Amino acid sequence: MSLANRYRPKTFDEVVGQKFVKRVLMRALERKDIPHALLLAGPRGIGKTTLARIFAKGLNCELGPTSKPCGTCRFCREIDEGRSVDVVEIDAASNRGIENVREIQEQLRYMPVSRYKVYIIDEVHMLTTEAFNSLLKTLEEPPPHVVFVLATTDPHKIPATVLSRLQKFHLKPHSISDIVERLKYVSSQEGISITDEALRMIAERSEGSLRDALVLLEQAHIYSDGTITERDVAEMLGVVPDNLYAQLMESILAGSFKEAYEKVMEITERFSPVDFASGLVRYLERHLLSDSTLPFEERVVLLRMALDMEVHIRQSSDPYAWLTYDVARMCAFKRVVNLDEISRYLGEPPKGSRPAGVGEAQSPPPARADEDPIERLRREKPTVAGYVADATYTREGDTLHIIVSSSVIARKIEREVEAIRRAFGVREVKVQVRKSGGFGDLFGEIKRDWESLD
Ligand SMILES: Nc1ncnc2c1ncn2[C@@H]1O[C@H](COP(=O)(O)OP(=O)(O)OP(=O)(O)O)[C@@H](O)[C@H]1O
Ligand SMILES: [Mg+2]
Ligand SMILES: [Zn+2]
Repeated sequence: MSLANRYRPKTFDEVVGQKFVKRVLMRALERKDIPHALLLAGPRGIGKTTLARIFAKGLNCELGPTSKPCGTCRFCREIDEGRSVDVVEIDAASNRGIENVREIQEQLRYMPVSRYKVYIIDEVHMLTTEAFNSLLKTLEEPPPHVVFVLATTDPHKIPATVLSRLQKFHLKPHSISDIVERLKYVSSQEGISITDEALRMIAERSEGSLRDALVLLEQAHIYSDGTITERDVAEMLGVVPDNLYAQLMESILAGSFKEAYEKVMEITERFSPVDFASGLVRYLERHLLSDSTLPFEERVVLLRMALDMEVHIRQSSDPYAWLTYDVARMCAFKRVVNLDEISRYLGEPPKGSRPAGVGEAQSPPPARADEDPIERLRREKPTVAGYVADATYTREGDTLHIIVSSSVIARKIEREVEAIRRAFGVREVKVQVRKSGGFGDLFGEIKRDWESLD
Protein backbone atom coordinates (compact mmCIF):
# COMPACT_ATOMS: atom_id res chain seq x y z
CA MET A 1 0.00 0.00 0.00
CA SER A 2 1.29 3.47 -0.86
CA LEU A 3 2.31 5.94 1.82
CA ALA A 4 -0.58 8.23 0.87
CA ASN A 5 -3.13 5.47 1.43
CA ARG A 6 -1.47 4.12 4.54
CA TYR A 7 -1.60 7.55 6.12
CA ARG A 8 -5.17 8.38 5.25
CA PRO A 9 -6.63 9.80 8.49
CA LYS A 10 -9.21 7.60 10.16
CA THR A 11 -10.58 10.18 12.59
CA PHE A 12 -11.47 13.87 12.40
CA ASP A 13 -8.64 14.64 14.84
CA GLU A 14 -6.07 13.23 12.45
CA VAL A 15 -7.20 15.34 9.51
CA VAL A 16 -4.73 18.13 8.80
CA GLY A 17 -6.20 21.63 8.37
CA GLN A 18 -9.74 22.02 6.95
CA LYS A 19 -10.83 23.32 10.36
CA PHE A 20 -14.13 24.80 9.26
CA VAL A 21 -15.47 21.72 7.45
CA LYS A 22 -14.29 19.51 10.25
CA ARG A 23 -16.06 21.56 12.89
CA VAL A 24 -19.37 21.72 11.03
CA LEU A 25 -19.40 18.01 10.29
CA MET A 26 -18.47 17.08 13.85
CA ARG A 27 -21.14 19.35 15.25
CA ALA A 28 -23.79 17.92 12.94
CA LEU A 29 -22.92 14.44 14.18
CA GLU A 30 -22.95 15.51 17.85
CA ARG A 31 -26.32 17.23 17.49
CA LYS A 32 -27.63 14.41 15.35
CA ASP A 33 -28.77 17.05 12.93
CA ILE A 34 -27.61 15.38 9.76
CA PRO A 35 -27.36 17.18 6.39
CA HIS A 36 -28.59 14.85 3.66
CA ALA A 37 -26.82 16.35 0.68
CA LEU A 38 -23.46 18.01 0.96
CA LEU A 39 -20.72 19.07 -1.39
CA LEU A 40 -17.00 18.99 -0.65
CA ALA A 41 -15.21 21.17 -3.19
CA GLY A 42 -11.51 21.87 -3.55
CA PRO A 43 -8.31 20.95 -5.37
CA ARG A 44 -6.87 17.43 -5.52
CA GLY A 45 -5.42 15.55 -2.59
CA ILE A 46 -6.57 17.77 0.27
CA GLY A 47 -8.97 15.49 2.12
CA LYS A 48 -12.35 15.39 0.34
CA THR A 49 -12.62 11.60 0.10
CA THR A 50 -10.97 11.26 3.50
CA LEU A 51 -13.52 13.51 5.20
CA ALA A 52 -16.42 11.85 3.38
CA ARG A 53 -15.36 8.46 4.70
CA ILE A 54 -14.83 9.68 8.26
CA PHE A 55 -18.24 11.35 8.15
CA ALA A 56 -19.75 8.05 6.96
CA LYS A 57 -18.10 6.28 9.89
CA GLY A 58 -19.42 8.93 12.29
CA LEU A 59 -22.91 8.27 10.92
CA ASN A 60 -22.77 4.49 11.03
CA CYS A 61 -20.48 3.67 13.98
CA GLU A 62 -22.25 1.42 16.51
CA LEU A 63 -21.76 4.21 19.05
CA GLY A 64 -23.08 6.83 16.65
CA PRO A 65 -24.00 9.10 15.22
CA THR A 66 -20.80 10.40 16.76
CA SER A 67 -17.99 12.82 15.95
CA LYS A 68 -15.59 10.23 17.40
CA PRO A 69 -16.19 7.00 15.51
CA CYS A 70 -14.69 4.11 17.47
CA GLY A 71 -12.79 2.57 14.56
CA THR A 72 -13.16 -0.92 15.99
CA CYS A 73 -16.81 -1.81 15.63
CA ARG A 74 -17.97 -3.86 12.66
CA PHE A 75 -19.29 -0.87 10.72
CA CYS A 76 -16.22 1.31 11.28
CA ARG A 77 -13.92 -1.48 10.19
CA GLU A 78 -15.95 -2.26 7.10
CA ILE A 79 -15.83 1.38 6.04
CA ASP A 80 -12.09 1.63 6.72
CA GLU A 81 -11.51 -1.46 4.64
CA GLY A 82 -13.77 -0.23 1.85
CA ARG A 83 -16.21 -3.16 2.02
CA SER A 84 -19.23 -1.62 3.72
CA VAL A 85 -22.47 -2.36 1.88
CA ASP A 86 -23.91 0.90 3.18
CA VAL A 87 -21.19 3.22 1.98
CA VAL A 88 -21.10 3.36 -1.80
CA GLU A 89 -18.34 5.24 -3.60
CA ILE A 90 -19.08 6.18 -7.19
CA ASP A 91 -16.66 7.77 -9.61
CA ALA A 92 -18.76 10.13 -11.70
CA ALA A 93 -15.94 10.49 -14.23
CA SER A 94 -16.58 6.93 -15.41
CA ASN A 95 -20.29 6.75 -14.49
CA ARG A 96 -21.56 9.93 -16.06
CA GLY A 97 -24.89 9.01 -17.56
CA ILE A 98 -28.52 9.11 -16.54
CA GLU A 99 -28.57 5.29 -16.34
CA ASN A 100 -25.96 5.47 -13.58
CA VAL A 101 -28.12 7.89 -11.59
CA ARG A 102 -31.20 5.66 -12.13
CA GLU A 103 -29.25 2.74 -10.74
CA ILE A 104 -28.55 4.68 -7.55
CA GLN A 105 -32.18 5.77 -7.30
CA GLU A 106 -33.40 2.18 -7.52
CA GLN A 107 -31.23 1.17 -4.60
CA LEU A 108 -32.52 3.95 -2.38
CA ARG A 109 -35.58 2.02 -1.18
CA TYR A 110 -33.45 -0.69 0.47
CA MET A 111 -32.80 -0.07 4.13
CA PRO A 112 -29.22 0.11 5.36
CA VAL A 113 -27.69 -2.64 7.47
CA SER A 114 -26.25 0.03 9.76
CA ARG A 115 -27.86 3.46 10.18
CA TYR A 116 -27.42 5.33 6.88
CA LYS A 117 -26.83 4.59 3.24
CA VAL A 118 -24.05 6.98 2.29
CA TYR A 119 -23.39 7.72 -1.39
CA ILE A 120 -20.03 9.34 -2.00
CA ILE A 121 -19.99 10.64 -5.58
CA ASP A 122 -16.50 11.70 -6.63
CA GLU A 123 -15.79 14.21 -9.42
CA VAL A 124 -19.53 14.86 -9.53
CA HIS A 125 -19.09 17.73 -12.02
CA MET A 126 -18.52 15.08 -14.70
CA LEU A 127 -22.18 13.98 -14.72
CA THR A 128 -24.14 14.75 -17.88
CA THR A 129 -26.87 17.37 -17.82
CA GLU A 130 -29.56 14.67 -17.96
CA ALA A 131 -27.94 12.84 -15.09
CA PHE A 132 -27.88 16.04 -13.03
CA ASN A 133 -31.52 16.75 -13.84
CA SER A 134 -32.52 13.31 -12.80
CA LEU A 135 -30.56 13.66 -9.57
CA LEU A 136 -32.23 16.98 -8.65
CA LYS A 137 -35.37 15.55 -7.07
CA THR A 138 -33.45 12.97 -5.10
CA LEU A 139 -31.13 15.61 -3.69
CA GLU A 140 -34.04 17.79 -2.71
CA GLU A 141 -35.81 15.11 -0.72
CA PRO A 142 -33.59 12.15 -0.04
CA PRO A 143 -35.12 9.32 2.02
CA PRO A 144 -34.33 9.85 5.73
CA HIS A 145 -31.85 6.97 5.79
CA VAL A 146 -29.81 8.31 2.84
CA VAL A 147 -26.90 10.80 2.83
CA PHE A 148 -25.23 12.12 -0.32
CA VAL A 149 -21.67 13.39 -0.11
CA LEU A 150 -20.65 14.87 -3.42
CA ALA A 151 -17.02 15.74 -4.08
CA THR A 152 -15.53 17.82 -6.86
CA THR A 153 -12.37 19.60 -7.92
CA ASP A 154 -14.42 21.82 -10.21
CA PRO A 155 -17.58 23.19 -8.53
CA HIS A 156 -18.14 25.73 -11.33
CA LYS A 157 -19.20 22.93 -13.62
CA ILE A 158 -22.10 21.93 -11.37
CA PRO A 159 -25.46 23.41 -12.44
CA ALA A 160 -26.80 26.14 -10.16
CA THR A 161 -30.03 24.19 -9.66
CA VAL A 162 -28.02 21.35 -8.15
CA LEU A 163 -25.72 23.60 -6.13
CA SER A 164 -28.63 25.32 -4.45
CA ARG A 165 -29.82 22.02 -3.01
CA LEU A 166 -26.49 21.20 -1.39
CA GLN A 167 -24.75 22.24 1.79
CA LYS A 168 -21.45 23.46 0.36
CA PHE A 169 -17.95 23.32 1.82
CA HIS A 170 -14.84 24.71 0.21
CA LEU A 171 -11.71 22.89 1.26
CA LYS A 172 -8.43 24.73 1.03
CA PRO A 173 -5.03 23.73 -0.31
CA HIS A 174 -2.66 22.95 2.55
CA SER A 175 -0.08 25.49 3.65
CA ILE A 176 3.59 24.66 3.18
CA SER A 177 4.11 24.47 6.93
CA ASP A 178 1.14 22.09 7.39
CA ILE A 179 2.54 19.84 4.68
CA VAL A 180 6.05 19.94 6.15
CA GLU A 181 4.68 19.00 9.56
CA ARG A 182 2.68 16.08 8.17
CA LEU A 183 5.66 14.85 6.13
CA LYS A 184 7.81 15.01 9.25
CA TYR A 185 5.29 12.94 11.13
CA VAL A 186 5.00 10.34 8.38
CA SER A 187 8.77 10.05 7.90
CA SER A 188 9.38 9.62 11.61
CA GLN A 189 6.74 6.87 11.72
CA GLU A 190 8.36 5.20 8.73
CA GLY A 191 11.95 5.66 9.87
CA ILE A 192 12.68 7.78 6.79
CA SER A 193 15.54 10.23 7.29
CA ILE A 194 15.21 13.51 5.39
CA THR A 195 16.68 17.01 5.75
CA ASP A 196 14.47 20.03 6.52
CA GLU A 197 15.42 21.69 3.24
CA ALA A 198 14.44 18.58 1.28
CA LEU A 199 11.09 18.53 3.10
CA ARG A 200 10.48 22.16 2.21
CA MET A 201 11.26 21.54 -1.46
CA ILE A 202 8.77 18.66 -1.60
CA ALA A 203 6.13 20.72 0.18
CA GLU A 204 6.60 23.62 -2.22
CA ARG A 205 6.32 21.43 -5.28
CA SER A 206 3.09 19.80 -4.02
CA GLU A 207 1.02 22.95 -4.53
CA GLY A 208 -1.10 22.37 -1.44
CA SER A 209 -1.84 18.70 -2.08
CA LEU A 210 -0.96 16.35 0.76
CA ARG A 211 -1.36 13.36 -1.50
CA ASP A 212 1.17 14.77 -3.98
CA ALA A 213 3.53 15.51 -1.10
CA LEU A 214 3.33 11.94 0.22
CA VAL A 215 3.82 10.49 -3.25
CA LEU A 216 6.94 12.63 -3.70
CA LEU A 217 8.26 11.65 -0.28
CA GLU A 218 7.86 8.01 -1.21
CA GLN A 219 9.63 8.55 -4.55
CA ALA A 220 12.49 10.40 -2.89
CA HIS A 221 12.81 7.58 -0.37
CA ILE A 222 13.19 5.04 -3.16
CA TYR A 223 15.52 7.35 -5.12
CA SER A 224 18.04 8.14 -2.41
CA ASP A 225 20.23 5.88 -0.34
CA GLY A 226 20.10 6.76 3.32
CA THR A 227 19.16 10.29 4.26
CA ILE A 228 17.11 12.18 1.65
CA THR A 229 18.97 15.42 0.91
CA GLU A 230 18.02 18.55 -1.00
CA ARG A 231 20.34 17.36 -3.77
CA ASP A 232 18.30 14.16 -4.15
CA VAL A 233 15.05 16.08 -4.23
CA ALA A 234 16.46 18.69 -6.58
CA GLU A 235 17.50 16.04 -9.07
CA MET A 236 14.27 14.13 -8.69
CA LEU A 237 12.15 17.24 -9.24
CA GLY A 238 14.45 18.84 -11.80
CA VAL A 239 14.96 21.86 -9.54
CA VAL A 240 18.31 23.53 -10.25
CA PRO A 241 19.77 24.81 -6.95
CA ASP A 242 19.86 28.60 -6.54
CA ASN A 243 23.62 28.75 -6.03
CA LEU A 244 24.22 27.40 -9.54
CA TYR A 245 22.00 30.14 -10.98
CA ALA A 246 23.78 32.74 -8.86
CA GLN A 247 27.14 31.69 -10.32
CA LEU A 248 25.75 31.69 -13.82
CA MET A 249 24.30 35.18 -13.43
CA GLU A 250 27.67 36.45 -12.29
CA SER A 251 29.23 35.31 -15.56
CA ILE A 252 26.34 36.69 -17.59
CA LEU A 253 26.50 40.09 -15.93
CA ALA A 254 30.26 40.15 -16.43
CA GLY A 255 29.51 39.53 -20.11
CA SER A 256 31.70 36.45 -20.20
CA PHE A 257 30.12 34.06 -22.65
CA LYS A 258 32.80 31.40 -22.29
CA GLU A 259 32.37 31.18 -18.53
CA ALA A 260 28.58 31.30 -18.71
CA TYR A 261 28.52 28.62 -21.38
CA GLU A 262 30.67 26.29 -19.30
CA LYS A 263 28.37 26.75 -16.31
CA VAL A 264 25.31 26.02 -18.42
CA MET A 265 26.90 22.85 -19.75
CA GLU A 266 27.68 21.81 -16.20
CA ILE A 267 24.10 22.37 -15.12
CA THR A 268 22.58 20.57 -18.11
CA GLU A 269 24.64 17.50 -17.35
CA ARG A 270 22.34 16.99 -14.39
CA PHE A 271 19.18 18.79 -15.50
CA SER A 272 17.15 18.96 -18.69
CA PRO A 273 17.26 22.19 -20.76
CA VAL A 274 13.58 22.81 -19.97
CA ASP A 275 14.14 22.44 -16.23
CA PHE A 276 17.15 24.73 -16.53
CA ALA A 277 15.31 27.46 -18.45
CA SER A 278 12.07 27.45 -16.49
CA GLY A 279 14.09 27.41 -13.27
CA LEU A 280 16.13 30.38 -14.48
CA VAL A 281 12.95 32.34 -15.12
CA ARG A 282 11.70 31.60 -11.63
CA TYR A 283 15.09 32.44 -10.15
CA LEU A 284 15.17 35.79 -11.94
CA GLU A 285 11.62 36.56 -10.87
CA ARG A 286 12.58 35.96 -7.28
CA HIS A 287 16.01 37.59 -7.22
CA LEU A 288 16.46 39.96 -10.09
CA LEU A 289 13.31 41.98 -9.64
CA SER A 290 14.27 42.87 -6.09
CA ASP A 291 17.97 43.40 -6.86
CA SER A 292 18.72 47.10 -6.81
CA THR A 293 22.30 46.89 -8.12
CA LEU A 294 21.08 46.82 -11.74
CA PRO A 295 18.93 49.49 -13.41
CA PHE A 296 15.30 48.43 -13.49
CA GLU A 297 15.16 48.36 -17.29
CA GLU A 298 18.13 46.02 -17.48
CA ARG A 299 16.54 43.65 -15.01
CA VAL A 300 13.35 43.56 -17.01
CA VAL A 301 15.27 42.88 -20.21
CA LEU A 302 17.21 40.01 -18.63
CA LEU A 303 14.00 38.47 -17.41
CA ARG A 304 12.49 38.86 -20.84
CA MET A 305 15.51 37.14 -22.40
CA ALA A 306 15.17 34.23 -19.99
CA LEU A 307 11.47 33.95 -20.82
CA ASP A 308 12.36 33.90 -24.53
CA MET A 309 14.83 31.14 -23.83
CA GLU A 310 12.20 29.04 -22.08
CA VAL A 311 9.81 29.42 -25.01
CA HIS A 312 12.55 28.63 -27.56
CA ILE A 313 13.66 25.54 -25.68
CA ARG A 314 10.18 24.17 -25.11
CA GLN A 315 9.24 24.56 -28.76
CA SER A 316 12.43 23.46 -30.47
CA SER A 317 13.61 20.04 -31.52
CA ASP A 318 17.15 21.28 -30.91
CA PRO A 319 16.97 22.82 -27.43
CA TYR A 320 20.75 22.85 -26.94
CA ALA A 321 21.26 25.19 -29.90
CA TRP A 322 18.76 27.65 -28.44
CA LEU A 323 20.39 27.28 -25.07
CA THR A 324 23.70 28.39 -26.54
CA TYR A 325 22.19 31.23 -28.52
CA ASP A 326 20.07 32.59 -25.72
CA VAL A 327 22.83 32.45 -23.14
CA ALA A 328 25.11 34.31 -25.57
CA ARG A 329 22.36 36.84 -26.05
CA MET A 330 22.09 37.36 -22.30
CA CYS A 331 25.86 37.80 -22.03
CA ALA A 332 25.77 40.43 -24.77
CA PHE A 333 22.76 42.27 -23.45
CA LYS A 334 24.70 45.22 -22.05
CA ARG A 335 26.42 45.91 -25.34
CA VAL A 336 23.37 45.21 -27.43
CA VAL A 337 21.07 47.39 -25.51
CA ASN A 338 21.64 50.93 -24.46
CA LEU A 339 19.19 52.62 -22.17
CA ASP A 340 17.54 54.56 -24.99
CA GLU A 341 16.69 51.37 -26.76
CA ILE A 342 15.42 49.72 -23.62
CA SER A 343 13.21 52.68 -22.91
CA ARG A 344 11.89 52.53 -26.44
CA TYR A 345 11.30 48.83 -26.01
CA LEU A 346 9.43 49.39 -22.78
CA GLY A 347 7.48 52.24 -24.36
CA GLU A 348 8.82 54.91 -22.01
CA PRO A 349 10.11 58.37 -22.85
CA PRO A 350 13.89 58.08 -22.67
CA LYS A 351 14.99 61.69 -22.63
CA GLY A 352 15.74 63.27 -19.29
CA SER A 353 15.29 59.91 -17.57
CA ARG A 354 18.84 58.84 -18.32
CA PRO A 355 20.82 58.11 -15.16
CA ALA A 356 23.98 60.16 -14.66
CA GLY A 357 27.16 58.60 -15.99
CA VAL A 358 25.52 56.83 -18.91
CA GLY A 359 25.13 58.02 -22.46
CA GLU A 360 26.09 61.07 -24.43
CA ALA A 361 24.88 63.82 -22.10
CA GLN A 362 28.24 64.28 -20.39
CA SER A 363 31.16 66.11 -21.88
CA PRO A 364 34.20 63.86 -22.07
CA PRO A 365 37.15 64.46 -19.78
CA PRO A 366 40.34 65.44 -21.60
CA ALA A 367 42.17 62.56 -23.21
CA ARG A 368 45.42 61.23 -21.82
CA ALA A 369 48.09 60.53 -24.40
CA ASP A 370 48.93 57.04 -23.21
CA GLU A 371 45.35 55.91 -22.92
CA ASP A 372 43.81 53.10 -24.97
CA PRO A 373 41.61 54.75 -27.63
CA ILE A 374 38.75 52.34 -26.93
CA GLU A 375 38.80 53.39 -23.27
CA ARG A 376 38.84 57.01 -24.34
CA LEU A 377 35.88 56.41 -26.62
CA ARG A 378 34.08 54.47 -23.92
CA ARG A 379 33.94 57.52 -21.66
CA GLU A 380 32.27 59.54 -24.34
CA LYS A 381 30.23 56.98 -26.30
CA PRO A 382 30.04 53.74 -24.34
CA THR A 383 27.73 51.94 -26.75
CA VAL A 384 29.76 52.74 -29.82
CA ALA A 385 32.95 51.87 -27.98
CA GLY A 386 31.46 48.44 -27.38
CA TYR A 387 30.69 48.06 -31.08
CA VAL A 388 34.19 49.07 -32.11
CA ALA A 389 35.80 46.85 -29.50
CA ASP A 390 33.87 43.90 -30.89
CA ALA A 391 34.77 44.70 -34.45
CA THR A 392 38.05 44.22 -36.26
CA TYR A 393 39.88 47.54 -36.65
CA THR A 394 43.23 48.54 -38.12
CA ARG A 395 44.96 51.87 -38.50
CA GLU A 396 46.54 52.79 -41.84
CA GLY A 397 48.28 56.14 -41.60
CA ASP A 398 45.57 58.66 -40.90
CA THR A 399 42.71 56.26 -41.53
CA LEU A 400 41.00 53.84 -39.19
CA HIS A 401 39.37 50.83 -40.89
CA ILE A 402 36.61 49.16 -38.95
CA ILE A 403 35.17 45.87 -40.15
CA VAL A 404 31.84 44.84 -38.67
CA SER A 405 29.51 41.95 -39.34
CA SER A 406 26.22 43.76 -39.68
CA SER A 407 25.00 46.83 -41.49
CA VAL A 408 22.97 47.86 -38.49
CA ILE A 409 26.10 48.18 -36.39
CA ALA A 410 27.91 49.85 -39.27
CA ARG A 411 25.26 52.56 -39.32
CA LYS A 412 25.52 53.04 -35.57
CA ILE A 413 29.27 53.46 -35.87
CA GLU A 414 29.02 55.80 -38.84
CA ARG A 415 26.80 58.11 -36.86
CA GLU A 416 29.61 58.62 -34.35
CA VAL A 417 32.67 58.98 -36.56
CA GLU A 418 33.44 62.34 -34.95
CA ALA A 419 33.93 60.81 -31.53
CA ILE A 420 35.86 57.89 -32.96
CA ARG A 421 38.17 60.22 -34.85
CA ARG A 422 38.87 62.14 -31.65
CA ALA A 423 39.46 59.05 -29.55
CA PHE A 424 41.80 57.41 -32.05
CA GLY A 425 43.40 60.64 -33.22
CA VAL A 426 42.81 59.86 -36.93
CA ARG A 427 41.52 61.99 -39.76
CA GLU A 428 39.27 59.43 -41.39
CA VAL A 429 37.14 56.47 -40.32
CA LYS A 430 36.07 53.83 -42.83
CA VAL A 431 33.47 51.29 -41.87
CA GLN A 432 33.05 48.11 -43.83
CA VAL A 433 30.52 45.31 -43.45
CA ARG A 434 31.86 41.80 -43.81
CA LYS A 435 29.94 38.74 -42.76
CA SER A 436 32.11 36.55 -40.62
CA GLY A 437 31.34 33.41 -38.70
CA GLY A 438 31.30 33.09 -34.96
CA PHE A 439 30.43 35.58 -32.36
CA GLY A 440 30.58 38.64 -34.59
CA ASP A 441 27.71 37.35 -36.65
CA LEU A 442 25.83 36.29 -33.61
CA PHE A 443 26.16 39.77 -32.25
CA GLY A 444 24.67 41.28 -35.40
CA GLU A 445 21.93 38.73 -35.32
CA ILE A 446 21.09 39.62 -31.76
CA LYS A 447 20.95 43.24 -32.75
CA ARG A 448 18.57 42.63 -35.63
CA ASP A 449 16.56 40.33 -33.48
CA TRP A 450 16.37 43.01 -30.88
CA GLU A 451 15.29 45.71 -33.28
CA SER A 452 12.56 43.53 -34.72
CA LEU A 453 11.05 43.32 -31.24
CA ASP A 454 9.68 46.83 -31.52
N1 LIG B 1 -6.45 16.99 5.31
C1 LIG B 1 -5.65 15.91 5.23
N2 LIG B 1 -5.07 15.44 6.36
C2 LIG B 1 -4.26 14.37 6.31
N3 LIG B 1 -3.96 13.70 5.18
C3 LIG B 1 -4.49 14.13 4.03
C4 LIG B 1 -5.36 15.26 4.00
N4 LIG B 1 -5.72 15.47 2.75
C5 LIG B 1 -5.12 14.54 2.00
N5 LIG B 1 -4.38 13.71 2.78
C6 LIG B 1 -3.53 12.61 2.29
O1 LIG B 1 -3.73 12.49 0.89
C7 LIG B 1 -4.40 11.30 0.55
C8 LIG B 1 -5.51 11.61 -0.43
O2 LIG B 1 -6.50 12.41 0.21
P1 LIG B 1 -8.00 12.42 -0.31
O3 LIG B 1 -8.30 11.15 -1.05
O4 LIG B 1 -8.86 12.76 0.84
O5 LIG B 1 -7.93 13.60 -1.31
P2 LIG B 1 -9.09 14.23 -2.21
O6 LIG B 1 -9.28 15.62 -1.74
O7 LIG B 1 -10.27 13.32 -2.22
O8 LIG B 1 -8.38 14.27 -3.62
P3 LIG B 1 -8.97 13.98 -5.10
O9 LIG B 1 -9.65 15.24 -5.53
O10 LIG B 1 -7.74 13.74 -5.90
O11 LIG B 1 -9.88 12.81 -4.99
C9 LIG B 1 -4.89 10.71 1.85
O12 LIG B 1 -4.86 9.31 1.80
C10 LIG B 1 -3.93 11.28 2.87
O13 LIG B 1 -2.80 10.47 2.96
MG1 LIG C 1 -11.02 11.99 -3.64
ZN1 LIG D 1 -17.40 2.31 15.29
